[in-house]
Amino acid sequence: MSSQRVPIEPQRVDAPLTASATFLVLKVNRTPDSVKTVRSTLAGLDSLAKNVAIRDLSSRFACTVGIGSDIWDDLTGLPRPAELHNFREIKGAKHTAVSTPGDILFHIRSERRDICFEFERQLLDQLAGATTVVDETVGFRYFDVRDLLGFVDGTANPVGPAVPDSVLIAEEDTAAQGGSYIVVQKYTHALSAWKSLSTEQQEKIIGRTKWDNVELDDAESGQKSHKTLNTIEDEQGNEHDILRDNMPFGSPGSGEFGTYFIGYTRRLWVIEKMLERMFIGDPPGLHDQILDFSTPLTGTTFFAPSSSLLASLE
Ligand code: HEM
Repeated sequence: MSSQRVPIEPQRVDAPLTASATFLVLKVNRTPDSVKTVRSTLAGLDSLAKNVAIRDLSSRFACTVGIGSDIWDDLTGLPRPAELHNFREIKGAKHTAVSTPGDILFHIRSERRDICFEFERQLLDQLAGATTVVDETVGFRYFDVRDLLGFVDGTANPVGPAVPDSVLIAEEDTAAQGGSYIVVQKYTHALSAWKSLSTEQQEKIIGRTKWDNVELDDAESGQKSHKTLNTIEDEQGNEHDILRDNMPFGSPGSGEFGTYFIGYTRRLWVIEKMLERMFIGDPPGLHDQILDFSTPLTGTTFFAPSSSLLASLE
């Protein structure tokens, strides 16, 4: 990624959408040796990525790492990114965005499942004894970039120069320049209940048509769609996008159907505002109806520092 306003090499937060992804959330064991092991693993992540990526350069391998608020000081010893804090639980009248622990996130992407697997295997070998796995979710791309609710997911993502503008911290926080905040939530869907709705009812909830992905106006009742609740403007009327790379996951055999939400942003407050509008509603009480069919099991915030900062950790 290149941006004239961010002279620092960012991590590949804008890596292309791939057929496979692994979301790995770890807790760092609180001993000096463990922290040291994690620090040197993160500093050497580029070499580890090269080891695996070279085996099939066409597989579009990318790994982005995020660091949580609780471990930031011990792990990096560097100034804190201005907005970095733990995910704050949001309690709506009916649904809650839970906050769950996690020190490090690895967002591992490739066209090939075996490449994701191999990278994670080598990574966890290096981290042996220093970390505990909090969550490991394996996502897959589903037909036309659809989620398991059947809708095309990711359409409104920024493209071109709008990507660094929405995703990378620039001059507003020099210590964090070239970095990005990441919020993840692992949702499971009540798929049979969702399927009992008509296509028209589903489309109203999402705010787009299902087959051809065309934007719809909101109902006159005042109930806003998922798309509208997630359209955020600041006080000057500027709209702020985020970059999402959500992935379906699950297992029909065990009745699990989910969406792993991942959002990258230059401004953490933008994603927090989206969550507030989804869970509390706008106006309050009129929450996002996607939540009547989707429950977040996790909610964790990270900061993805620039790759130069990562490399300098050792
Ligand atoms: C159950 C989990 C979720 C599912 C299945 C889902 C699915 C979708 C779909 C189908 C769209 C419309 C197409 C598109 O523009 O991508 C959309 C839009 C969007 N979603 Fe979600 N989403 C989920 C959770 C979230 C969360 C937690 C956030 C933010 C915190 C979010 C933020 C957005 C944004 C920013 C848009 C684009 C809005 C615009 O049109 O400007 N989504 N989502």
